[in-house]
Amino acid sequence: MKPRQIREGIHWMGAVDWNRRLFDSLIPLPDGTSYNAYLVQGSAKTALLDTVDPAMSGVLMHQLAGVERIDYLVSHHAEQDHSGTIPAVMSKYPDALLVCTMKARQMLVDHLDVQPERIRTVEDGETLSLGDKTLRFIHTPWVHWPETMVTHLPEDRILFSCDFFGSHLATTDLYAGSEPYICEAAKRYYAEIMMPFRKTIQTNISKVRACAFDLIAPSHGPIYDNPECILSAYEDWVSDRVSNLVVLPYISMHGSTEMMVTYLVTALSERGVKVQEFELSTTDIGKLAMALVDAATIVIGTPTVHVGPHPSVFSATHLANALRPKLKYAAVIGSYGWGTKAVEQISGLIPNLKVDILGTVLCKGLPRNDTFSALDKLADAIRDKHSAIDEAPN
Ligand code: FEO
Repeated sequence: MKPRQIREGIHWMGAVDWNRRLFDSLIPLPDGTSYNAYLVQGSAKTALLDTVDPAMSGVLMHQLAGVERIDYLVSHHAEQDHSGTIPAVMSKYPDALLVCTMKARQMLVDHLDVQPERIRTVEDGETLSLGDKTLRFIHTPWVHWPETMVTHLPEDRILFSCDFFGSHLATTDLYAGSEPYICEAAKRYYAEIMMPFRKTIQTNISKVRACAFDLIAPSHGPIYDNPECILSAYEDWVSDRVSNLVVLPYISMHGSTEMMVTYLVTALSERGVKVQEFELSTTDIGKLAMALVDAATIVIGTPTVHVGPHPSVFSATHLANALRPKLKYAAVIGSYGWGTKAVEQISGLIPNLKVDILGTVLCKGLPRNDTFSALDKLADAIRDKHSAIDEAPN
């Protein structure tokens, strides 16, 4: 892809990665991704905002072939998908200074061997003049690393947000428009990496809200030309609002746990409670993370393996704990052959979840009438708790 003009003197650069299917060797990328960099040419100075993943360095360096001078290379975030081509750019432009937060400084030295004497750190709110354009740096820590910042360009009313508001999407569309699938991709992105920092992100949204902009230009996915759409979506995701939704990750070995899950899902549905179930041997963990963004309750379904929960359930429960969703209630259901410590072990896996445990329903072997009665009682308890949920958006 060639550089694409956004405004006079401002170009999108970067690489669209259509074929990448996994990030951090963990996060599924069903729709690929992009690494966006932005070239800002003022009347006196030129800046490049971020670079691209080292696997696609050649794409960016080719785009820069006709750019004679870069004075400042701004690094919003030290993670390698944006910083990985910094050494190549610094080498091509030996007079360029690398601009970042104080926290990013050492990270860029540690991860990329950048020469410390070529780094200029900037404070929260500091500005850098490019002549007729001004870069104003806003510290936005923990989206999703501690060193992150964004850049506001007031003359052109653009917010360059790096990971913040990004979406893992490979597309030829430069702008998001009002396409719902882009907001869906942004929700997946938020769920997978931002959700643990929800409270800090609330503060960061307030900080960027104080800036005037018409575009949000992230470093993954299309540019938001209707920024209110993604801003209000983020405000909802980070709010304390939960929805009348049960997330039900489970696995079954010989069918007993699955029978219980099927019964409970029906019982909840009959009581007006929405459920999303995730069979863990086939599920996309990104979808599970998305469901956790505003679910009120998690019900974990597991058979017993070597006294504890099934390893797939162990892994999903660990992930849910790490993501720190705003869940309010939890329950465990499942089966065992002759003895189990599954509930005790699952309880030990979720210290970050501030949930009330609404019940546990375990059966030895096949579920029978007493099991189904217990599942009805659990469904009643969930319905009663969910009936107090105010679904109105904030
Ligand atoms: Fe897109 Fe945190 O890197």
